[in-house]
Amino acid sequence: MPTVLITGASSGIGKAFTELFAKQQYRIILASRDEGKLNQLAAEMQQQYGTQTRIVAVDLAQQDGAKLLYERLQGTRIDILINNAGSGSFGYLHELDARSEQQMLQLNVQSLSQLMMLILPDMVRRGSGRILNVGSTTSFYPCPLSANYSASKAFVLSLTEAVARELDGTGVSITALCPGGTGTAFFQAAQMEGLKVADPKALMSPDKVAQIGYKALMRGQVVVVPGMQNWLLTQAPRLFPRRFVTRITRSVLERKR
Ligand SMILES: NC(=O)c1ccc[n+]([C@@H]2O[C@H](COP(=O)([O-])OP(=O)(O)OC[C@H]3O[C@@H](n4cnc5c(N)ncnc54)[C@H](OP(=O)(O)O)[C@@H]3O)[C@@H](O)[C@H]2O)c1
Repeated sequence: MPTVLITGASSGIGKAFTELFAKQQYRIILASRDEGKLNQLAAEMQQQYGTQTRIVAVDLAQQDGAKLLYERLQGTRIDILINNAGSGSFGYLHELDARSEQQMLQLNVQSLSQLMMLILPDMVRRGSGRILNVGSTTSFYPCPLSANYSASKAFVLSLTEAVARELDGTGVSITALCPGGTGTAFFQAAQMEGLKVADPKALMSPDKVAQIGYKALMRGQVVVVPGMQNWLLTQAPRLFPRRFVTRITRSVLERKR
């Protein structure tokens, strides 16, 4: 049975991916910081689907987080990597806490890239494997008040598209899943709860996002944006000057509920 490694498995989109793979009888390695939540999810998957799981509690916002995770898995063949762990932040860059911002960049950018670089060589040698990196609709445009976050997600999209082309003919595929607003703990963690963009009525369910991501991953599709409205949101900025796009995205993000 193939093995899938899911980062950020303890909640939201990562948890939804865990359930999808559990139903398909994959072996699952669940990684995030909260050992208690991971243990609980592993037990649920074992009980409901008979899934073989392993958990690794790791902080991917620390410098060597990805390396530590990889070392804990030495000798384990990873068939699929779901590079999903990530966090956001909200506010004017000059007012944000520099240390928290650096930790977010370590998580969203460095650890995501490092984990891929540790796992990809074995996949290429075997001539099989799949990777899914979680970006965002903000991968497609700069977002004032979430400047580091949107830049980190632009990195995820650019990295994925470039590596996808490098992997032509290797038997390994890579996919960027770029969701819009999704009903998870993300907005609460980023202190964005009172904002219009975090209105639960406008959010897609994490299950739906994971289903769309799963299909794209299995097809080897390079980029997928869940939902027509979100897709339009990612394409519209191409038609306008960048300075106009940042004016609009700033005013959208400033709107309160
Ligand atoms: N929700 C949205 O609207 C939305 C939209 C576009 C993209 N995304 C992206 O989707 C991905 C998943 O987010 P989500 O919406 O599912 O949010 P979530 O419910 O807050 O889940 C985030 C996951 O990442 C893990 N995580 C956070 N910090 C970590 C760290 N330092 N080390 C290891 N794991 C860590 C969390 O687990 P622990 O707390 O146990 O560590 C949790 O499992 C992120 O990359 C996010 O940027 C979300």
